[in-house]
Amino acid sequence: MDYELLNEQLLAITENVNNNITNYANASALLFNSLEDINWAGFYIANGDVLELGPFQGKVACTVIPKGKGVCGHAYESEKTVVVDNVHNFSGHIACDSASNSEIVIPVFHKKAVVAVLDIDSHKFSRFDDTDRKGLEEFVKILEKTLG
Ligand code: SME
Repeated sequence: MDYELLNEQLLAITENVNNNITNYANASALLFNSLEDINWAGFYIANGDVLELGPFQGKVACTVIPKGKGVCGHAYESEKTVVVDNVHNFSGHIACDSASNSEIVIPVFHKKAVVAVLDIDSHKFSRFDDTDRKGLEEFVKILEKTLG
């Protein structure tokens, strides 16, 4: 994956857009249509002790995830990227789509607080390596600059 190009595309479609939902929606569409071997890409929005389903691409997903639960809730609580090579071995994993086998979740910050998480699922095991993590963390940094 050419993350430099992907991140240039994100910048082009989000700069000068001052609506968080608009940018989350287009960011998830860009990811879903650019990354190979993924079956879900989108955002959960932080609301106190829970994450609530936000803009995404893929199959219908669970709507509310408590902080600390599942891969997303773990990333929200720890405020760190979580990469899971085999979700079936991750204690507390929340299976929204039974086709998912690996997953990456990256926290999205605004004013030093986590306001959302980016979640990407794959039907492949160990789909997300260090290059993906770095490229996608850069993707999230670009998105963070657009948030109000
Ligand atoms: N698997 C996630 C739940 C969200 S879906 O994958 C879209 C988790 O364990 O947090």
